[in-house]
Parts: sequence; structure tokens; C-alpha cells
Amino acid sequence: MPVKHPKPGDLEPIERASRDELQALQLQRLRKTLQHAYDNVPHYRRVFDAHGVHPSDCRQLSDLARFPFTAKSDLREHYPFGMFAVPREQVVRIHASSGTTGKPTVVGYTAGDIERWSQLGARSIRAAGGRPGDIVHVAYGYGLFTGGLGAHYGAEKLGCTVIPMSGGQTEKQVQLIEDFRPDIIMVTPSYMQVIVEEFRRQGKDARAMSVSVGIFGAEPWTEAMRRDIEASAGLDAVDIYGLSEVMGPGVASECVETKDGPVIWEDHFLPEIVDPETGQVLPDGEEGELVFTTLTKEALPVIRYRTRDLTRLLPPTARSMRRMGKIVGRSDDMLIIRGVNLFPTQVEELVLQHGQLSGQYQLVVTRNALLDEVQVRCELQPEHGQDDRDDIARELQHRIKTLIGVSTTVDVGLPDSIERTLVGKARRVIDKRPK
Ligand code: DLL
Repeated sequence: MPVKHPKPGDLEPIERASRDELQALQLQRLRKTLQHAYDNVPHYRRVFDAHGVHPSDCRQLSDLARFPFTAKSDLREHYPFGMFAVPREQVVRIHASSGTTGKPTVVGYTAGDIERWSQLGARSIRAAGGRPGDIVHVAYGYGLFTGGLGAHYGAEKLGCTVIPMSGGQTEKQVQLIEDFRPDIIMVTPSYMQVIVEEFRRQGKDARAMSVSVGIFGAEPWTEAMRRDIEASAGLDAVDIYGLSEVMGPGVASECVETKDGPVIWEDHFLPEIVDPETGQVLPDGEEGELVFTTLTKEALPVIRYRTRDLTRLLPPTARSMRRMGKIVGRSDDMLIIRGVNLFPTQVEELVLQHGQLSGQYQLVVTRNALLDEVQVRCELQPEHGQDDRDDIARELQHRIKTLIGVSTTVDVGLPDSIERTLVGKARRVIDKRPK
């Protein structure tokens, strides 16, 4: 499939700007944002004062490190609208992320925020190879989740024909893909696998579908998963990253010509990597927790927001802005099994390397006496339904032990035995340990 390289006129000037030009813009926007937050959000005024910092102390970008962090709990404590920096009447849209416990985290957007979000959505789809006139099938969920509407507005802004399919109804997904012949699909990578399986179940080859690009995000996924989807669906798979507290999908997005990690749209978001334990800023290239400060948000500016996502900042390649590595996992997803850190994505790589297994897997964690135990559940691909499951289980268990260093039990089930997530993010860890 020919990859669409951007032509010079395709890119916005800032996507090609020099580092100096970009940083000058960032500093100007950062100072404005700090002042806006301080003047209009009582929480920021209180914590800046308590920290002994004032927006006027920010004279260069590195001064940001003197300001306090913001956490999800800050948004929860000011539920629902207490972190808004504009009168509620100026907020034209609300989204919320549900989380596993307690109240949802509520975010708001002014008309200007929606406009900038749409532009960044359009920029992200263009980076993936999308062009005006393309048909875009959106299978991210619509509603309080930012995925559906975020992708939708971006695609419309770019000048595409949008199919707002949302998640679920897998048979209908296949029907609409066949009938409407979209060029691009936007969906979680795990649900893309489910759609591919549905093609197969109907006796059809997903590689024959019209879609040439998939823009996948909202959950961690590995290079092995990219290879698996590209091979089974016959498309270019690119990564889109975002989080509701910072905006939604399109905070960073991958360029199809390089596929080397999402480019952070640094003219709107200032990234830092910090040591998750100490909060100390780490140099580019080192792995740690991703922290974002928004540079243009009006309704909900966030200062040094702790994402809990673990990754690295990488130097610019296809654009003038820095990239992020694939998200290794969230610090809250990390399992510590008898002292060894384990992320679901590490297991995903090994499961997908195994030619007889489908990409579906779950980790079930239990506590036996005082020790934590992990059972890795995976399943055979339909065409390998008769293969010896015990043999494969032993082999995978051995690879997990030698490559990751954790003893697990592996259960290889029959094809289709693992529950699929049809709407929202795949649930990879089932934690049965007593709270
Ligand atoms: O998931 C926004 C989004 C929608 C991004 C559609 C991309 C596509 P939240 O529901 O607030 O927002 O969840 C944000 O999801 O902190 C990451 O842990 C995870 N996440 C999002 N994109 C990626 C990605 C949306 N490309 C949380 N790779 C983030 C890995 C991702 N994890």
C-alpha cells in the first residue's frame, strides 16, 4: 500500500518550525496559561501560593519545574466544575472519564477549545495519511468518553466524510465497512482485532476491505500488536495518544511515513518526564512518568498534570516536535509480582510472537497465602483449534519466566474463549487480590 508522504503545502508552518521558534511560542503560551490558571482557578492560586511560586517566576521553560503538580485527585476534589477557569456559561461541552472507583473526572471545553481540539484532530489524521475527501469510520465510543466525538470533530475539520458508528454492534461494523468503503478507521486496537475476527467469522478476508489506515489508541498496545493488525487487516496502523484531562485524542499522534512514536503537538502541550517516585524532571530519552501542561486550553488549563503513563521523550523526526515512545503501561497498571515489575504489554509481546495464539489475553492476579500469583489466560487462533494447548502453555510460561523474570501459570483456551471488550478499553488485568 503506498504511504502518503505529506507534500510541503500539507503541513502547518509550526509543524516545520525551528526548535527556537517553537520554544518561543511555548514560553509565551506557558506564561499566559499560568497566569490564567492563577487568576481564575482558586485551587491553582492556593497551591502556587503554598509553594511560594507566582506565574511571573516563569521566565524560561525550565522554570516550570518550580510549579506544583496536578493529579487526578485534584480534579475529583473539585467535582464537578471547580477546576474550570471560565464561567460555566462559556463551557460548550463536558466530557468525563469514569475510572474504576468514585466520581468521574469531569472536563470542560469553551468553543475555542473545541475549535483547537478539532484542528489537532485534523492534524493527527493528516499525519496518519488522511486527506480531505476521505471517508473516516469512527468506532471509538461516543458519549462522555472523548474518543468518539474527538475523532469525529477532527475528521470533519479535515474535510472528511465521517461515519459516526461508535463502538459495539460488531456485525454492523463489518456491514458498514463493506458498504460505505471507508479509507480510514479510528478505533481501539483491541476492538480492531475483534472486527477482524468478525470478518473471519463471516468467511471474509479483512485484508480485502477498503480501509488503508487505522488510527489506534486509548489503550496501551505494542509493536507486536501493530504487526498483527497490519498483517490481518491489510492496513497501516498508527498510534494516537491523548487523555481527557489534557484534551482527548490528538495530544500526540504518529506520522505514517515513520511510524516511530506519536509526535507530541508541542505548540499546545508541554511535556515533561519525571521520576514517578521523586517527581524530579528527567532528561529526554529516560523512561518515567509523562507530565503535561496545556498551553492553549481556556476552560480547563492543567499545570504539570501527572498522567501516570510511563514512556520516554524522543527527538523530532518527521516533524519539528518531539515524539513519545510507546506507552509501556500506566503506573497504576503495573503489577509487582514477588518483587518483579510486570506490565501487561510485556506479556502481550510474547503472546503475539506465538504464531498459534490469538492476540487476546488477560492476566488474573490472586493472592495465595502471602504471595501474589499471576495466571496468564490466552487462546488459540481458530485455525490452530486442534493444537496441543498444554505444550503451548508450557512454552509461553517458559518464555515469560526467562524474558520477563516472573513465574506464572499459563492457561491456553480454545478459540474465542476470552471475553472481548466491545466498547471502551480492553480489560487486561483482573485483580482478585483482597483490597
Ligand atoms: O483514551 C483519549 C483517547 C481516545 C486517546 C481515543 C486516543 C484515542 P481517557 O479515557 O482519559 O482518554 O484515557 C487516557 O488512556 O492516560 C493512557 O493511559 C491511555 N491511552 C490513551 N491513548 C493511548 C495510546 C482517552 N495511544 C488514558 N497508547 C491515557 C497507550 C493510551 N495508552
